[in-house]
Parts: sequence; C-alpha cells; structure tokens
Amino acid sequence: MAQAPAAAAARAAELRPLITRAAHAYYVLDAPVMEDAVYDRLLRELEQLEREHPELHRPDSPTLRVGGAPASRFESVAHRIGLLSLDNAFDLGELRAWHERLQRVLEKARTAGATESPETAPQGQTEQALVSELKIDGNALALSYEDGVLVRAATRGDGSRGEEITANVRTIRTVPLRLQLERPPAWVEVRGEAFIPSATFEAINRERVAAGEPAFANPRNACAGTLRQLDPAVVARRRLDFFAYTLHLPPDAAQAPASQWQALDWLRQAGFRVNPNARRCPDLSAVEAFVEEWSERRHGLPYATDGVVVKLDDLALQERAGFTQKAPRWAIALKYPAEEAPSRLIRLTSQVGRTGVVTPVAEFEAVALAGTSVSRATLHNADRLAELDLHTSDTIVVRKAGEIIPEVVRVLPELRPEGAVPLSLPSACPVCGSPLVREDGEAATRCVNSSCPAILRGSLRHWVSKAALDVDGLGSRLIEQLVDKRLVRSIADLYRLDAALLASLERMGEKSAANLMAALEASRQRPWSRLLHGLGIHHVGQVNARALASAFPGVAELAAAAQEAPETVTAVHGIGDEIVQSLQQWFATPANQALLRDLAGLGLPLAGSSGNERASGDPGEAVPASSPLAGKSVVLTGTLPDMSREQARDLIEAAGGRVTGSVSRRTSLVVAGDEAGGKLAKARELGVTVIDQAQLQALLSGALSEGAGEDAADAGAA
Ligand code: IVH
Repeated sequence: MAQAPAAAAARAAELRPLITRAAHAYYVLDAPVMEDAVYDRLLRELEQLEREHPELHRPDSPTLRVGGAPASRFESVAHRIGLLSLDNAFDLGELRAWHERLQRVLEKARTAGATESPETAPQGQTEQALVSELKIDGNALALSYEDGVLVRAATRGDGSRGEEITANVRTIRTVPLRLQLERPPAWVEVRGEAFIPSATFEAINRERVAAGEPAFANPRNACAGTLRQLDPAVVARRRLDFFAYTLHLPPDAAQAPASQWQALDWLRQAGFRVNPNARRCPDLSAVEAFVEEWSERRHGLPYATDGVVVKLDDLALQERAGFTQKAPRWAIALKYPAEEAPSRLIRLTSQVGRTGVVTPVAEFEAVALAGTSVSRATLHNADRLAELDLHTSDTIVVRKAGEIIPEVVRVLPELRPEGAVPLSLPSACPVCGSPLVREDGEAATRCVNSSCPAILRGSLRHWVSKAALDVDGLGSRLIEQLVDKRLVRSIADLYRLDAALLASLERMGEKSAANLMAALEASRQRPWSRLLHGLGIHHVGQVNARALASAFPGVAELAAAAQEAPETVTAVHGIGDEIVQSLQQWFATPANQALLRDLAGLGLPLAGSSGNERASGDPGEAVPASSPLAGKSVVLTGTLPDMSREQARDLIEAAGGRVTGSVSRRTSLVVAGDEAGGKLAKARELGVTVIDQAQLQALLSGALSEGAGEDAADAGAA
C-alpha cells in the first residue's frame, strides 16, 4: 500500500543518503559497507516510493543510476570553463625540453611580478613539484555541480561547446550525483575521463559479435559510442567508469586547494574516484622514474592507458605559467609509444563466420606485444586488405590497438622479397567452394550458401551457447564432427540425434551421449526469447531478443508484424528500422521459413508458454495470480509524466501483463500519456479502456502488494 505523503517523504530522505553512501563505498572505495541484497532492497524501496510519489524525484536520486527516458537527440551546451587539450611529448628528451621551457617562463614571470606576490614566488634554484598521473585512454567529460548536485554532464566537443549527456553520465556509478560535502561551493566544475574497463569491453564485443554486429575497435571508441547512446538504459548496462582529475571552483570558494595534489584529494573527499596511481614528484627525475616504472606496469591495469600526464603541482604557479593558443604551458602529455613490432607474414587465411561474412586473417611469426605473444590479426575486410597492399612473405608492422586487439598497421615494402605475389580475398568460399559475393556499398564479402558447413557450424555454436539455448556438452569439436559427417545439416537436426549414434562418435561414450541428450531435451524448455536469440538474426542479440519476445507472443506474430506492421515492431524499446529490416529479410528467406516449420514440428518453443514472457527472460519468476493485470495485453502511448516507457513496461510485465505495440480489439488496456496520438484514437474507436499513469499506478500497487511478493515488485528496478 502506498504510504502517506509525509511518511514517504521522510523515508525517502532517510534512504537517499544511506544508499548513496553504500554505493560510494562499493563502487569508489571498493570497500562495501552493506550486503548486496540489503542494498538492493533499499534501492527498490526508494524506487517504489518515487513511483508512488512522483514529487519525491530528485536529480541526485540513486535510482537514476539505471537510466531514465531515452532522448531523441543531444543539446549542444557551452562549457562554463573550456576544456583544453594538452601538448604531447613523445620521449624523455621532449619531456625535458618542455620542463626547461616551463622553468624559463616561470622565472620570467617571477622577476616581472616579484613585487606583487613575493609569498608565492619560487625561491632560487629549487625545482617545483610536479604531479604525474596516468593518462587514461577514454573520453573527457565536463561535470557541472550546483549547490552540490550534478546538474549537467557534457562531452568535450570542440573544447568550448560539447553535447549534453547528463542522463547517460548519471548511470556511471563512480560519478557522484551529489558531492559528499557539508557546504558545497555554489558551483563546481570537474573534469575527468570516462572509460570502459578492459574486461567489460571484451564482454561487450563478445555480445556484439554474437548478435552479428561489428565489434568496437578499442575501448575508447566503445566508450565514445556508449556516451552518445540515446537510451540511458543501454549506457547503464555498459558499465562505464570515471576517473576525476581536474577541479575548478568559484574564486571565493572556502578551503580551495592550492595545488593539483590537494585538488585530487578534494575530489576524493567529495566522492569521486581518483586514479590511485598518481604521484607527487619533487623534481623531474622523479617524473622520469614514474614514466619508466609505468611503461610496463600499466599493462597489468584493468583499463587502457596511453601515457603519463605531468602537471605543475602549485596552482598559483600554473596560473603564472599560463597558456599557449591551445594548451596549458604547465602540463604535458607524455605518450607511450604504441606497442608495435615488425614480423613476417606466414600466410593469409580467411574465416567464414556464422553470418557468412568472410574475414581475412594474417598469420605471422609470433611477436611479444603489450605483454602477450601475438601471431594472428584480422584484416577486417577486402578494402583494408587492398589498402595494405599485402604480398606473400611481406614484413609487416603489428600493433595491439587499445592494447587489446592485434592489428596489422602497415607493410614495409622495402623489405619485400623478389617475386612476392599480391594477396587478396579468395573468389570462392574457403570452406564450401561456392562463389563469394560482395554487394555494392557493402564492406563485407560473404558466402551466401546457406548450407555452407562454416555457416552451419557457426550457427550451431551460437544456438547451443549459454545466452541462447544453453546446451551443455556440445562443444566446437563435436559440432565439427556432426557437420563433417553430415549427421547434422540444420539446427533442427540436433533434436533428431539419438544416444546410440552420439555414443559412437570420437571422444564420446554412453554417459556423455546420455548427458547431451538430456541437455538437448532441457533446451526445449527455454523461453522463446532465447530461441529468438539463438536463431542468430542480424542485430537480434540477447537484449533485443528479450525485448521482442516480451512484446510479441511468438515467432509467428513477430514475423507477421515485421512484414505487415513494422511500426509495431519499432515501437518496442530499443528496436529501430535497421533491426526491423533485418527481421524482414530473415523471415522472408525460404530456408529460414523451413527451419521454423521444422523446429515447430519438433516441439521447440516458438512462442511464450504463459503469454507473459518477461524482460528478464527466464521462467520461474513469480507472477501474482491475483494481479488485475495478469494476462492482460497493454499498449503504452504518449509520454507518461514521470515514468519512462521502459519502467512502465517492466512494471506491467512484473504484474503479469504483456505490453504490445499496437491497439486491436484484443488489447485490454491503453495507458495514455501526453501527446498520445493515433493509438489513443484507435482505442477510443474500438472501445478499449484508456487509463492514465495514476490509474496504472493504482492498478500496479494493487497487483504488487497482494501477495505478489518482493520479486514481482522488484522487477521494475532491474
Ligand atoms: S588533464 C588542461 N589528466 O588526455 C588539462 N587529461 O591529451 C587537460 N586525459 O583531453 C586534461 N588522463 O581527455 C588530464 N590524468 C589526466 C588525463 C587526461 C587522460 C585525457 C583528456 C585530455 C587528453 C589530452
């Protein structure tokens, strides 16, 4: 039951700082002060309070971490204080030259201004302290706080104007939504670097590749792409992180730091994550030692770095040193050389992926790069191959971009042996021999033979993967045998295998055959969102498959909607035109239609069994039987006053309802917000009940308090 407004406000005021402190301890300090489950409960309680009492929403509420309503575009905003770039030094010689210039500038300023401010003047020959910080390879952000609350976050842009991406940045757990200060200054400007940790980057790319989407080249690109996502919920899932490094305060601020070192401490106290590896160096030789030390150590960090930023520590001296046209004189970025090494090409091979895309791969003599041994690199596509002008036995330069993905930077034609032959992609599929196709305007060259064993192997591997049908015990080797021996010619054939046949294969016995049979049997029970993901439709990864499966009762409805009413598909959260086109193509292909018929005949779940497959996808989640929304088909239209469409959808689904895209006679309810258009008219025309957000909330609170248990009430939070 909803609480009385005063009690709710008091409880929210109690919860907000408690949750914020716990999140800071967990994400920034790495020292949890609360059990995860307790934290989750409290956060959900606050979410529920804010849902029931929209007036309790705050711009610094920890509930905003999960991402608010999607934007249609980003506003351009002027930075209060411009974001400068840094001059670069590429070796210690250039670093020393910068330092000498700096000394001269300071000396000149000192003699000129000695009479004005003798107390801050450097005395005699003493060197000025410097701060060495790792240069994080991410994207600079400008954060603006007013009265201690994060009011705006923007990209660097051209340095004076950037794009406003506040909702996205609020999802970064290490960016405080409110400064942890008793008396925050009227305004605070913080600069720092948003980045994607290496492990997260790899996970994102794995998922993209599984969904048939191109992988990000490096974590910085992935981070930039994520920050510019229109849907903050997508940003929240990508788990960005942030290190703060620059602080600007109003001129009259109390207890303002006098040095960069103190500023880093101020930022830490205020709740920011500050890179712990910064060091205050008494002189340049200490900086050089830092640079030397981190040239290797940085490879062990869980995020990418590309250099060291050296800053004059004393802020008064920084001011005295001033700026050139584009950069401060008091700081420099020393770039570590990109990790590159020469090697000799052994051969050019090509890989055929699950979607038939053929990728050229260079195999070369192993070289050590960024701490690992590398002997293969993808060359992406035919254009890149042509651009490199690769010949047999060429000497090539290999690099680990973003310290993760090996790539061939260029060839050294000077070292090319006589008689070397230029290399290009084959004209026939290296696996099935059928002619390869490259369509106009497409970078990819493809094998379009749908029974190509390479495509089949890839499709099977994808089908049995954890995120899809999760068939335990069917590894790559076994798939290869099954395809090579022509025992399996399609996904459906997996369900026609028998134990005796499996037991007769290499490295298989009766026990493992029986286990695999059981695993295949179990895979028939997965919800249909998993099956949809398993089909491997271009752009339909795990997340999109779940969204589609919760909006459409089954494959037949989805296929029909994609062909006949594509707008009902694009109405689904996160689904755009490109995805719809991909669905249309897939469903229009006769071989795919045959596969679906085959799977249906074998009893695979091509539809949600209970008709309310939820966003979280898996069965076994309690749905309140007595819920007034159970089994109801609900259409959302217009903008709800204080709920995003996704939040509303999650709540309705948690209460056992199903959110669909278009209004028909079978629609049970339409929830209309501001500027509701055609769907509202249609609902009126068909006599479908129309309710507003408040009425929806009333229904939900009934549904969620009647023995539905915490689980159902909580589903909206995820
Ligand atoms: S200080 C005027 N400190 O490197 C001060 N920048 O090449 C400018 N960066 O645009 C920034 N780590 O995006 C600073 N510890 C660090 C940094 C850092 C990464 C980035 C930042 C900047 C670029 C300049």
